[in-house]
Amino acid sequence: MMVELEVNGRFAKLDIAEDAPLLTALRNYLRLTGARFGCGQEQCGACMVLLDGEPTYSCTTTVLQAVGRPVTTLEGLGKLGEPHALQQAFLEEQAGQCGYCLSGMMISAKALLDRRPRPNRQEIRAALEPNLCRCGAHLRILRAVERAAELLARGAEKAAS
Ligand code: FES
Ligand code: FES
Repeated sequence: MMVELEVNGRFAKLDIAEDAPLLTALRNYLRLTGARFGCGQEQCGACMVLLDGEPTYSCTTTVLQAVGRPVTTLEGLGKLGEPHALQQAFLEEQAGQCGYCLSGMMISAKALLDRRPRPNRQEIRAALEPNLCRCGAHLRILRAVERAAELLARGAEKAAS
C-alpha cells in the first residue's frame, strides 16, 4: 500500500507493506544506507534512527509506526563538506574500525547531545549502552562524543559573540 514517511525533513511516498521494518523502507526504498542491519532483534543498535527525536531501533519498528512521525537518519545529521559536529569529531578521533556500528552510535549520541549538551563520560556511556561495537573502538567513540560536545559548545559561543 502507499505510505508517506517524513525522513530527514523530506516527505516520500512508498509502495510498501505497512508491517515492513522501517529499516527496509530506509535502505531498500529510499537508498539511505546509513542505518545498518545487524541483529534484527534490538540487540546491537546498528539500525538506530531518531523517531520523534528519540533513538529507535528501525529493525523492529514498522513502517506504520513511523507514519506521521519525523525520522532522522545519519544522512540527516550533516553532509560531505558540511558535517555535523559528531561526524567531524568521529573522523578526528578516528573513532571506529570497520565502521559498522558508527551510524547507530552517532544517532544515539545526537539524541544525548540534544537533551544534554555537556554530558559527562558516565552519561555518554549510558546513552550508548544499546549500541555494540564488535571492533572494540569504545574508548575512541567516547572521546569522539566528548569532542563533538566541545565543538558544539564552541560553535554556540561563537554564534553568541
Ligand atoms: S539491527 Fe536493529 S538492533 Fe540490531
Ligand atoms: S567500528 Fe566495527 S563494529 Fe564498531
